[in-house]
Amino acid sequence: MKNQPIGFLDSGVGGLTVIKEVMKLLPNEEIYYIGDSARNPYGPRPLSEVLDFTIQLANFLVSKGIKALVIACNTATVAALEVLQEQLEIPVIGVIESGTKAAVTSSKNQKIGVIGTQGTIQSNEYEKQILKLSQRADVQSVACPQFVSIVEKHQYEDELAKNVVSKELEPFLGSEMDTLVLGCTHYPLLQSIIQDFFGEDLTLIDPGVETAIQVQAILNQFEMQNDKIDNAKNHVFYTTGPANKFEKIAKDWLKSTDFKVEHIPVKEIQKHGK
Ligand code: DGL
Repeated sequence: MKNQPIGFLDSGVGGLTVIKEVMKLLPNEEIYYIGDSARNPYGPRPLSEVLDFTIQLANFLVSKGIKALVIACNTATVAALEVLQEQLEIPVIGVIESGTKAAVTSSKNQKIGVIGTQGTIQSNEYEKQILKLSQRADVQSVACPQFVSIVEKHQYEDELAKNVVSKELEPFLGSEMDTLVLGCTHYPLLQSIIQDFFGEDLTLIDPGVETAIQVQAILNQFEMQNDKIDNAKNHVFYTTGPANKFEKIAKDWLKSTDFKVEHIPVKEIQKHGK
């Protein structure tokens, strides 16, 4: 079991920001990833539909023999974490707990901002979890629905991205927050534009960093660390969208070519439903 891959899922390319951190921290682990770009975005969909899609993606990865699952998508974490933890026989982790802990630890004044998809923000999950850890926290949450499509379309280095970021982050103007959680795994691809908008005094939290630490802890706990050498060459990334588009963003973001990208049709994924 310990030499099996770890599975990661997302609605598209966003989970790449999580695996980037996992690759840094756990270079000996093999990664199987599925991004559902054909049905992206998940953010505006009812959570019951996101739950169904996430179960399909998870079961698909389980059929490939993964030893643990990371829901590398905040919206899917809100919709499906508890259900999958109950249904699957392998460890399952999400990204929200990690982002919450990192934010509460980093903030000096406990004025914390959260940005995410409509699904994540409407669920109030970050605010609930932050307040559990820090009763005096003051949380402002804002949905940024346009960020995901900019990233999926590989427009995150364009002038358009700057304009959209400035517009969607306007509700924070005048805020005293010292920490902002990037509560959608697509957003770290816009991190430098977001940082420029607020200036260097604001700390941005990328939950991917903390999630990688949590993956490491789980592997240690279950004594599942991969001990085969040179695994990194065997990463497989599946996408329901066009493989060439996914590959371009993956190479650009991961600064690596040690992976294989395969297109998988939605029809195939749907066969893994409940
Ligand atoms: N990357 C996903 C998240 O973390 C969702 C993006 C979307 O499909 O709306 O929430």
